[in-house]
Amino acid sequence: MKALVLAGGSGTRLRPFSYSMPKQLIPIANRPVLEHVLMNIRDLGVSEIGVIVGSWASQIDAVIGDGSSLGVRVTYIQQGAPLGLAHAVRLARGFLGDDDFVMYLGDIILSGGVAEIAADFRARRPAAQVVAQRVADPRAFGVVELGPDGAVRRLVEKPRWPRSDLAMVGVYFFTAAIHQAVAAIAPSRRGELEITDAVQWLVSRGLPVRATEYRGFWKDTGRPDDVLECNRRLLGELGVLVDLDPMAQVVRSHIEGPAIIGANTLIEDCLIGPNVSIGRDCVLRGTRLSDSIVLDGASILEVPGMHGSIVGRSAVIEPAANAVPYRLLVGDDTRVEIMAR
Ligand code: TTP
Repeated sequence: MKALVLAGGSGTRLRPFSYSMPKQLIPIANRPVLEHVLMNIRDLGVSEIGVIVGSWASQIDAVIGDGSSLGVRVTYIQQGAPLGLAHAVRLARGFLGDDDFVMYLGDIILSGGVAEIAADFRARRPAAQVVAQRVADPRAFGVVELGPDGAVRRLVEKPRWPRSDLAMVGVYFFTAAIHQAVAAIAPSRRGELEITDAVQWLVSRGLPVRATEYRGFWKDTGRPDDVLECNRRLLGELGVLVDLDPMAQVVRSHIEGPAIIGANTLIEDCLIGPNVSIGRDCVLRGTRLSDSIVLDGASILEVPGMHGSIVGRSAVIEPAANAVPYRLLVGDDTRVEIMAR
């Protein structure tokens, strides 16, 4: 079995971070989302992985490379424009050949993994097996309707009036039958070739399509609050309360776990945690910080209380000079929340 990971897309919901980096490289517990994904796939015993990349190809290549540091072999497949998940499958035809494969969105966190579902697919080999979870509001997802016998009856992408609460999480197992389906479908109303429509094409032709409910933690890291929730979750699962890189320096500070702190970062006179991930080459001084992610090279100086925040690479937060209360150089689509007067 091979794997196809989707790491293109535009990431508009994750602005401003996605202006300068692909959302799949946002760190969760100091590891890019995409690395968590590749490690989950490796845990299925799959090592041949095609990664769909868009305009951020070179940044992804610089971090993931050929995959050898993660014990996998990565082949990059360039997608000129984000024309949909089924479009990505079309582009990967040469890489995938006639092999069975797992398709995995490059921006989701499934902390439990899908090993049991993969074993089930390998044993029965239906044309498609989709992984789904019950959600309170399915309108933002591809939705699966099951028949009375538990077989998949219909799949609809982002339905206005959902007839089921089973949402597809973004992991799909396919045999080569999917290639005929992605070749046959036309773009949807939003102009994308939808994988949901391709799987529906299989259902309409009477091919076996199964859905399996995944009950573990699942979240797509599409919006900043989702990223913070994944960070809390994965830090909680790390097993160590405070993961301090040997090259980090902590001076006169208290760190309440779970927390992770990267190499060459200096923490001085701070109260840090819980649920904080700080990257490498950062400086935090005189600051109180909880439930937050700080990316590489950022500085936070003399900030008395910061919570639920994400600070981008090499950003600087420091006291204003010249006795003004605030001086803000705020980029496009940035969000700053301050104490009301
Ligand atoms: P989405 O989150 O649905 O799309 P997006 O990246 O465009 O995000 P936004 O809605 O915030 O603008 O995509 C799911 C995953 O699939 C994500 O990792 C990006 C990837 N993707 C591709 O690789 N190619 C595509 O054509 C599309 C639509 C998504």
